[in-house]
Amino acid sequence: MKRVLSGMRPTGKLHLGNYMGALLNWVRLQGDYECYFFIADWHALTTDYADTSKIAENTLEVALDWLAAGLDPERSVVFVQSSVPEHAELHLLLSMITPLGWLERVPTYKEQQQQIGDVAAGGKDLSTYGFLGYPLLQSADILLYQADFVPVGQDQVAHVELTREVARRFNQFYPPPAGGAPVLPEPQVLLTPSPKLPGTDGRKMSKSYGNTILLTDPEPVVRQKLKTMVTDPARVRRSDPGEPDLCPVGDLHKVFSTPETMERVYAGCRSAGIGCIECKGWLADAVVAQLNPLQERRREYENSPALVREILAQGSCRARARAGETMEQVRDALHLVELPTEERSR
Ligand code: TRP
Ligand code: SF4
Repeated sequence: MKRVLSGMRPTGKLHLGNYMGALLNWVRLQGDYECYFFIADWHALTTDYADTSKIAENTLEVALDWLAAGLDPERSVVFVQSSVPEHAELHLLLSMITPLGWLERVPTYKEQQQQIGDVAAGGKDLSTYGFLGYPLLQSADILLYQADFVPVGQDQVAHVELTREVARRFNQFYPPPAGGAPVLPEPQVLLTPSPKLPGTDGRKMSKSYGNTILLTDPEPVVRQKLKTMVTDPARVRRSDPGEPDLCPVGDLHKVFSTPETMERVYAGCRSAGIGCIECKGWLADAVVAQLNPLQERRREYENSPALVREILAQGSCRARARAGETMEQVRDALHLVELPTEERSR
C-alpha cells in the first residue's frame, strides 16, 4: 500500500469547514493507504510561541474530533509531532541544505507576516527563525515517513512543492551508500476536493472570522446559528423570489442536503414558495443528521480521557519506529559517525 501523511495544527475544536475540507477525506483514505495523521503542535509554536497555554488542550480537542470523525487508530497511525523528536532531527539536517531564498519565496511567508505579523497593529512578531523555517519543518514531517502522497488543500500545495525540491537536493548531495533508490522520495500532492463552505456570515468558514459551525455544536446551537445565517440579499421580503446559487445557505444545502431537498430549495426559493426560515430548517436537519454520529462517538471518548492520551501515545510510538527507519538511512547517507549504541534514545 502507498503511504499517505498529513497533519493539522492544533487550533482547538474543529468546524464543518475543517471536516469537509480535510478530515472526511482522511477518513476515506484509510482503507486505501497506509495512513499517518499527526497533530502539528510544533507548528503551532511558530506563530504562538509567546503564549503556549492552549496548545496541549487544543491538541487533545483535535484528537477527539479526529476520533469522533472516524479516524481509526487501528487502521491509521494517529500521533503528535512533539512526541516524535526525529521531526526535529530531520528538520535540522534539511536546514543545512536549504537556501534561504527558497523559504523567503514561499507565498505564505510574506502573506502571513502581513496578516498576523504586524506588531504595530497588535499582531505577533513573526521575524523569527522558526517562522521562516516552518515550511521546512513541514517538509521534514513528510519526508520522515517517506510518504508517497500528502492529502492537503490548495493552500498547502506550495509547501509540498518545496518538499519535493528539498528532497531532490538532499538526494543529489547524499545518494544512498549502497546505491539504489533515493533516501527521500519526492512526495505528491493528493489535492483534497474541497467544496465551497461558507460560514454564517457568507464568508469562507474560518475560526478567525467567528462564523463557524463546530462539530461539537449541539442541535439547538446549529439551528440557531443557521437561523441567523445571511441569505441571498435579493430576498428582502418573504414575497421576493431568491436564487439559491447566490445564497450561502444554498451553498451549504449543496454540500449537506439530498438532491430531493435541493430540488425543493430551488423551486421554493425561486418562486418565493418557501421562506428562508423554512429553508434553513431543512438545512439544519441535514447538518444535524451529519453531526449526530460524530457527536455520539465523541461522547464515548470524552467519557474516558485517559484513552485518548493512550491512543496518541501508541500512535506516536508507531510513528517513531517508522521515523527511526528513515533516520537510519539518512544518517547513513550523510556518513555521520556510527557508534555502537544499542538503541538511539532521547
Ligand atoms: N502546515 C499545515 C497546515 O497549516 C499543517 C501541516 C504541518 C502539514 N505539517 C504537515 C500538512 C505535513 C501536511 C503534511 O494546515
Ligand atoms: Fe437562501 Fe433558502 Fe432563502 Fe433561497 S430560501 S434565499 S436558498 S435561505
